[in-house]
Amino acid sequence: MRILVTGGCGFIGSHLVDKLIEQGHQVVVLDNLSTGKKENLNPKASFYQIDIQDPEIPQIFQKEKPEVVFHFAAQIDVRKSVESPIKDAKINILGSLNLIQGFIQVSERKKFIFASSGGAIYGDTDVIPTPETYLESPESPYGIAKLTVEKYLYFYKKTYGLDYLSLRLANVYGPRQNSKGEAGVVAIFTDKMLSGNQPIINGSGRQTRDFVYVKDVVEAALLAMEKEKSGIYNIGTAKETSINEIFRKIKELTGSNCQEIHGPEKPGEQKRSCLDYSKAKKELNWRPKYNLEEGLKETVKWFKGLP
Ligand SMILES: NC(=O)c1ccc[n+]([C@@H]2O[C@H](COP(=O)([O-])OP(=O)(O)OC[C@H]3O[C@@H](n4cnc5c(N)ncnc54)[C@H](O)[C@@H]3O)[C@@H](O)[C@H]2O)c1
Repeated sequence: MRILVTGGCGFIGSHLVDKLIEQGHQVVVLDNLSTGKKENLNPKASFYQIDIQDPEIPQIFQKEKPEVVFHFAAQIDVRKSVESPIKDAKINILGSLNLIQGFIQVSERKKFIFASSGGAIYGDTDVIPTPETYLESPESPYGIAKLTVEKYLYFYKKTYGLDYLSLRLANVYGPRQNSKGEAGVVAIFTDKMLSGNQPIINGSGRQTRDFVYVKDVVEAALLAMEKEKSGIYNIGTAKETSINEIFRKIKELTGSNCQEIHGPEKPGEQKRSCLDYSKAKKELNWRPKYNLEEGLKETVKWFKGLP
């Protein structure tokens, strides 16, 4: 198939592109390289270095005529979204609309798959693991934007018959994750420990997250493309892991002798986050295959530069 991937030079998008090309698909990548890297780009993919807000986007859709779109490009930093909600909305809401508008003009179109966020959309909940039916209460412009795009997708489905699938991802980790940003505690800790720097745990470290390995997320995205399903699906492990536990596991795997040092709690930081993936299991036949130990081992290996 002809497939267009936005954010294909980024962490998750580049793993997805590799897998699609391995399966023999024709892949076009759109990325402005703001956080993504050209070295992540599969050489067999065609590439447009372009912002998803660019008015030229509809012309690219007309030229490439993709059957499937995976929309993984985004401003991914929750704190930046709090500092600059307008900038965040321009990229994450208007940029997404620009793509959807381009896609609905393509007569060969089959499906739009969107990388949404579980943690950011549900906010702090009292139902753990949290199912898709839980009332969404995003606590950041980033989460609001993800939920808004889901609402637009519903509108496009009703009005234009656009088939879509939104994957509400848990905390994704693995090789190629950017360790310099604010997101991605696994990448940050691993990089710091391997380079002999001191990682800092925000607050007590008892806050929990649901860590899902990037290859499992790619598998979910492929099933989202193949199955005759539409709608919203949580993609996580239904297991809570505290930041302290993550710290200790990575410390053991890297052989670091750093101290366990705690800094001030980040204001507004979520206490618990964990996703119920029963819907994806039942309807997409997806389940996470990597446990945390296996995924962390692969991640540390990559950060060490080992094959
Ligand atoms: N990593 C996670 O834990 C996680 C969790 C939930 C959801 N997500 C979502 O998954 C998607 C991929 O995230 P990631 O972790 O791979 O991040 P990433 O920063 O590695 O990838 C994002 C990619 O999008 C590109 N990009 C950013 N703004 C752009 C723009 N305006 N125009 C064109 N390209 C642009 C970047 O250059 C980068 O290559 C994002 O939509 C993110 O919100 C990620």
